[in-house]
Amino acid sequence: MNVILVGFMGTGKSTVAKELSARLGLTVREMDEEIVQAAGRSIPEIFADCGEEGFRDLESQVLDQVLSSDGQVISGGGGVVLRKANRARMKAGGTVVLLTAKPETVFARAASDPNRPNLNGRRSVSGIAELMEARQPAYEAACDFAVATDDKSVREITDEIVRYLDACLVGDPYR
Ligand code: S3P
Repeated sequence: MNVILVGFMGTGKSTVAKELSARLGLTVREMDEEIVQAAGRSIPEIFADCGEEGFRDLESQVLDQVLSSDGQVISGGGGVVLRKANRARMKAGGTVVLLTAKPETVFARAASDPNRPNLNGRRSVSGIAELMEARQPAYEAACDFAVATDDKSVREITDEIVRYLDACLVGDPYR
């Protein structure tokens, strides 16, 4: 079993992945960290040296490698859903949970982080809202289940995911 967390930057994927993996007794895999390790460079450096497409190529390779194992909670980068092949691979390799947040929430959580090059030029609520809207179809196509994270604790978000996974196990997922 793999649980794959997807969602826009600043929706809490990494934090929830840690809590969820501890609750379920699964290994946590942080895709961005593995991409940085594989490239030997930071994310802004990869974007600067190879462009976004170069970053996405690495991301797809790391995704394939991560999904070749089982029993993991995988925290995907915010753009891993953009490629159709990645979406198919994730659906086949586990349960895909989408974390959502309002643009205002993302702005408060992530806008000042220099390690997110895709926020460059969009470090405003409206800039974030625009990118989020453009990506919305890809997020929806990727996921089995979505959890809104605004004004919720990590515990509450994790509880919702665990309830969904439990319901799946008895064959009666609530959606
Ligand atoms: C990206 C999100 C980042 C990281 C890279 C690109 C994106 O991950 O993969 O900066 O395009 O949304 P987080 O969502 O973990 O910040």
